[in-house]
Amino acid sequence: MPPSVDSCLLVILGASGDLTSRKLLPALYERHVAGDLPAETRVLGVSRRPKSDREWREDLAASVQARVENFDRRRWDELAPRISYQAADAAKAASWGGISERIASATPGGECGNVLFFLAVGPELYTPIVAAIGESGLVSTERRACRDASIKGWRRIVVEKPFGTDEASAKALNRSLAAVFDEEEIYRIDHYLGKESVQGLLALRFANGIFEPIWNERYVDHVQITAAESIGVEDRVAFYDRTGAIRDMIQSHLLQILAFVAMEPPSVFAPDRLRAERRDILEAIQIPRKDELETTAALGQYGPGPDGVGYVATEGVAPGSTTETFAAMRIRFDNWRWAGTPFYLRTGKRLAAKHTEVVVQFKAPPTDLFRTLSNASGVPATGADRLVVEIAPRSRIRLRFLGRAPGASFSLHPIEMEADAGGRGGAAEPEAYGPLLIDAMRGDQSLFKDREEVEASWAAVDPLLGDGSEVLRHAIADNYVPGGWGPDAAHELLARDGRAWHV
Ligand code: BG6
Repeated sequence: MPPSVDSCLLVILGASGDLTSRKLLPALYERHVAGDLPAETRVLGVSRRPKSDREWREDLAASVQARVENFDRRRWDELAPRISYQAADAAKAASWGGISERIASATPGGECGNVLFFLAVGPELYTPIVAAIGESGLVSTERRACRDASIKGWRRIVVEKPFGTDEASAKALNRSLAAVFDEEEIYRIDHYLGKESVQGLLALRFANGIFEPIWNERYVDHVQITAAESIGVEDRVAFYDRTGAIRDMIQSHLLQILAFVAMEPPSVFAPDRLRAERRDILEAIQIPRKDELETTAALGQYGPGPDGVGYVATEGVAPGSTTETFAAMRIRFDNWRWAGTPFYLRTGKRLAAKHTEVVVQFKAPPTDLFRTLSNASGVPATGADRLVVEIAPRSRIRLRFLGRAPGASFSLHPIEMEADAGGRGGAAEPEAYGPLLIDAMRGDQSLFKDREEVEASWAAVDPLLGDGSEVLRHAIADNYVPGGWGPDAAHELLARDGRAWHV
């Protein structure tokens, strides 16, 4: 039996931001409609912008309605009175007197009720806010006295990505958090882990006996992980220009997908086992040397398309910015399962489509039995058999292999089998933040990163970010046309290894 979901006060720090209106509140509404959210749950939004409870609820109603399917006003009206707002600068310790009073009055169960903080602010504010929470006494030992009185009275904190800006800052942030919260109270979130289609990778690999025996360097030629987006940086220029695709997508979402594809089977489906295996595989990544960067990675910035300006010319982007809107890299592992099998990762803005997929390309049979057939196309050198796990826009699995082509004489042709992996008939998945928030309320950390995991994922991309990465950045301005599949350098990355991107 999974642990019960405790009622709590969810304190969203950064309540007037994009994440709150676009993701968190639609997710909470969906969980409310699904019946997962305890009726006593309360939400307190904290942000600097002055606003009344009523104004905030109205803003949220509009954005939830625009984002969820079959919005039901009646169901929203059940949730709305439980949502309130406090205008305050959470990064200033002086604001926490007022915030604490509000928390005390809004927490179900009063003083000894449960409080879930959610850091939905810019990453530069994490440390000052955590320090201010610490100073407020809300998480201190005295508060924990409630627990001694056998009342849970838990305090937990969800930390949004990017968790720092590099390995050193992630370590520093881990230390700041550890000064206030215990590790089991810290939930480092990555919404890709809340996606049903991403979790489906675990079911595919570990609930079946047929894939695992061939899921290794002996049978797999290479793996591709693509997370392409058709949108540009939109209204997030300020955040994006100091972040870029590696920090925004690769260090978090793509490495998490990679971990699910490459990790060892845990001995049991339990939070600490799952986290340990994800951490292990990320720690087995060969860190690229500076002198290898040019042959193992490619960066890009979208140029002007027919419908608008290119990235560097976008208002708010620093002149001469070398922030990447596209990144591709080759990853190798130092472990028995994958030594010799490269994993290629790719992500970018303003590409041809919103498309997220994992491609497992199998090796060719040991010999081409059909090579003597005069009319046969033969068996391709890298193998025709591939498994494609599509994560977005639809959750589906496609298995391709060669079969006998119709006709009097023997020849081969590719056959493809397709399955609706999500079981939703192509309909949209629920907002991924919802199930993760529920997990945080029940104290399940399976789908959240621990301290070492987040540090290992930064270590894997650090060389592409700091000094020495100029070699990848010196000529990236306008190096790919919107609507395509990224810069030439990304295609060359695979071509050098005798391979090509699946799409
Ligand atoms: C976010 C990134 O974490 O993920 C965005 O900051 C990106 O830049 C988004 O657009 C993609 O998420 P999804 O769920 O739409 O694939």
